[in-house]
Amino acid sequence: MSNVTSAHGMWSSKMMFILAAAGSAVGLGNIWRFPYLAGENGGGVFVLAYLVCIFLIGVPILVSEILLGRAGRQSPINSMRMLAKQSGASSFWQVIGWLGALAGFMILSFYAVIAGWAMSYVVEMASGNFVSINAEQASTVFAEFTADAVSVVGWHSLFMALTIYIAARGVGKGLETTVRYLMPALLVLLLVLVSYSALATGHFVEGLKFLFSPDFDSFNVDSLLVAMGQAFFTLSLGMGAIMAYGAYMPKDASIIGTATTIALLDTSVALLSGLVIFPLVFANGLETGQGPGLMFVTLPIAFGQMPGGHIFGAIFFTLVSFAAITSSISLMEPAVAWVVEKLDSSRAKGAMLVGVIAWILGLGSAFSFNIGADITLLAGMTFFDTMDYLSNNVMLPLGGMLIAVFTGWVLKDQLIEEELAGDKVWLNLWRLITRFVAPTGVMVVFVMTFL
Ligand code: PHE
Repeated sequence: MSNVTSAHGMWSSKMMFILAAAGSAVGLGNIWRFPYLAGENGGGVFVLAYLVCIFLIGVPILVSEILLGRAGRQSPINSMRMLAKQSGASSFWQVIGWLGALAGFMILSFYAVIAGWAMSYVVEMASGNFVSINAEQASTVFAEFTADAVSVVGWHSLFMALTIYIAARGVGKGLETTVRYLMPALLVLLLVLVSYSALATGHFVEGLKFLFSPDFDSFNVDSLLVAMGQAFFTLSLGMGAIMAYGAYMPKDASIIGTATTIALLDTSVALLSGLVIFPLVFANGLETGQGPGLMFVTLPIAFGQMPGGHIFGAIFFTLVSFAAITSSISLMEPAVAWVVEKLDSSRAKGAMLVGVIAWILGLGSAFSFNIGADITLLAGMTFFDTMDYLSNNVMLPLGGMLIAVFTGWVLKDQLIEEELAGDKVWLNLWRLITRFVAPTGVMVVFVMTFL
């Protein structure tokens, strides 16, 4: 029998787990990263590959991660160690936990930088600087802001401090209110923006076509890797975040139902963001493939043209910042929980330790857009690009594949049956996918890309 509760605390209800996991999943990955990757990788084919990865590989691995977390009830590193032992398997499998914690540091480091940009845009918006701005001016504001290393690091530090503060307060407290009210608010504002794009830009259909009519000529293997990496990133998958949250999930919640809800919510936010951004891109003659600045250049134009746009804009970027915080605390959780278990320290100390290390690493990404723009690491990529590429395109899919193989082939049957007791109908399909489809899928994409 696995434990009924975790020493780190528990979510107060099923609903609370869904909120926390959805809070982890929905973040910059949906609103900032998805649109710019779709823009860089040819639109429709990318979106198609992304959707296939989400539902064919992502959801089943999401189920595996929650299951492992709930069966283990500890930090991912220690849960994996214990479950491998209980299944009579090698302690090698705890590598899933270690790889995940490392990926968490890498992602959190650049995530906090971009979230800092979003926070600074709250102030920019509220100040009215964007009222009636045109595309060229919006690009200039963004370029000037990111070129200013001092203010980028200032916002980056503020975001990291907030993340540490919330993570230190522990599971549950603070998070519940954040997610319960702010996420629906974010969805409502996204819908307002979609209506604006549909009614006011005159280029909605072009945006729709870009996202949903795949042009197979523009397909290439590298974008397939990027789409797979994005599927893992957006679902917070492959690095133990969801495993850590699963450890605090009450026994009576259905894992498969929960995983599906999270994926549907997450995907809707990403697609809605795309539907907001691309009509604006086409209406203003902007580049689809301009990279990480896409959201920061397009949205100010829309808000700048709306009546009361500076207020809506400030609210919108506030909500984006909150969505980012509910994700960043989950990026920290595997490492924080491990530190608490290993050093028997308080959550506050654990969060501080993890946050400070990630903050230092993040300076590299903060400087990638200004004083360090010429410094390249892997294959001519900046520090930011290298962190992003290695963590999202390599480590998350690799972690996810190992998780699928472990739950599919290694984990003791009795544990699976206990955890998925309420989900009998889907059991065989899930087994088929974790045993064969997901591991082969990830392998094939890796082999195609790296050979
Ligand atoms: N899913 C989050 C987002 O889309 C990012 C994240 C990745 C969070 C991995 C936790 C773990 O913004």
